[in-house]
Amino acid sequence: MQATGSADSAHVIGTVDARLYGSFVEHLGRAVYTGIYEPDHPTANANGMRQDVIDLVRELEVPIVRYPGGNFVSAYNWEDGIGPREDRPVRLDLAWHTAESNQVGIHEFADWATAANTEMMLAVNLGSRGLDEARALLEYVNHPGGTHWSDLRRTNGREEPWNVKMWCLGNEMDGPWQIGQKTAEEYGRIAFETAKAMRAFDNSLELVVCGSSTPNMPTYPAWEATVLDYTYDSVDYISLHMYFENHAGDTARYLAQNARLDDYIQTVAGVITYTKAKKRSKKDIYISFDEWNVWYHSKEADKTILEGHDGWPHAPALLEDVYNFEDVLQVGCIINTFIRRCDVVKVACLAQLVNVIAPIMTVPGGPAWRQTTFYPYLYASKFGRGKALRLVVDVPAYATDFAETVPYLDVAAVESDSDGALTFFIVNRHPTETIDLDLSVQGFGERRVVADKVIAGHDLRAVNGPDGQPVEPADGTGVGVTDGRLQGSIAPLSYRMIRLG
Ligand code: AHR
Repeated sequence: MQATGSADSAHVIGTVDARLYGSFVEHLGRAVYTGIYEPDHPTANANGMRQDVIDLVRELEVPIVRYPGGNFVSAYNWEDGIGPREDRPVRLDLAWHTAESNQVGIHEFADWATAANTEMMLAVNLGSRGLDEARALLEYVNHPGGTHWSDLRRTNGREEPWNVKMWCLGNEMDGPWQIGQKTAEEYGRIAFETAKAMRAFDNSLELVVCGSSTPNMPTYPAWEATVLDYTYDSVDYISLHMYFENHAGDTARYLAQNARLDDYIQTVAGVITYTKAKKRSKKDIYISFDEWNVWYHSKEADKTILEGHDGWPHAPALLEDVYNFEDVLQVGCIINTFIRRCDVVKVACLAQLVNVIAPIMTVPGGPAWRQTTFYPYLYASKFGRGKALRLVVDVPAYATDFAETVPYLDVAAVESDSDGALTFFIVNRHPTETIDLDLSVQGFGERRVVADKVIAGHDLRAVNGPDGQPVEPADGTGVGVTDGRLQGSIAPLSYRMIRLG
């Protein structure tokens, strides 16, 4: 099978915002406790944070991390997580049917973010609380001093404000599972008023209003139209979430799901355009796709806790999906979609980062290890920053019940702004056929392959674990540039990252 086409330096989709490779840490399961924070761990730093986890997060070069939820935030009192640790209350977390010790709060997380070389993106509670809590938290986090909340922060050991720029106005407010779920009208109003108050403090904040929790919501996409009608001129982003599953064990259908993701982005981009026109607005807003991942492997195992049959455990092993080789291909296709839609998706957060549907896993008291999906995320984060190119690739396609044309080869390409390298991210979805790639790269001058990484040849169900990580990248061979054409063979069911210098 052949894939022919071209990459042209003049055909640019847009500049990839580095925050396209963001992630997410929620007070959920073992993401925080025994994930990022484990004071008794041999690698724990002075703040009780696991250095082995920090090292892996730094390796991923995660630009921004959303915190503290997720569903958790919708019944969270942020004040429970400040002040002397021994005075902090234990609370029931109604979202995940667990107990929250509050041993980690905003100070600890901010220190961790600095150590992990990432920025914070904070969410306010618009479920059980509202505008007043949001303005207090904002003052605590971003005001220099001389006021009640900012001086309390200083008393609690942090002199300088953190100056957090990006704020989420609640989480998944359309979802019946959300504490304090709202109708689009109710949410649009409270989000507008909260944004107004937050902007009265600092007009340069970047505010994210909740869009749909999935494209399967009965309220989608009317939700977006109503919420943006209230908030268009007050916010900068509308958030979308989507998770992917292969319960049916149908690989072809599973790997086609980024076609649904593309439709979702396209539809919400349309609602944004419509609302902008309706309001005669000069302003653009973008999508913050601040939760996405594969999530299904652990759902059966989690039922006992989530249905309340296991009491209210503290930091149980929840949502601990163990990813397989097939998920590498899926994550590669999803990230490629975000790169190709970087004109409208500026921020995206892999949900989540540690232990909970995560690329990084930990053993309490033991090692931290890389899941299979660590690698497509790693390569995109490191090498997918710059200009996304509008490729022309002619390759055979297949059909599924939800998409008529799913190309066997999924490709995205980015020309780096820092070193000019041209990186191709490629997934061959074909179950049996090698695809011979032949792409013109003439407009980019003299080029040669400077890196070629491949993940291929594994059983689709092969997984990594604490005792061994068989699903790892290897050096690719046989790909080169001849007479301005990138040529080589892409193995069936494979992930490939090729960098031209
Ligand atoms: O990431 C896990 C959960 O998925 C989040 O808490 C919630 O926002 C979403 O439903």
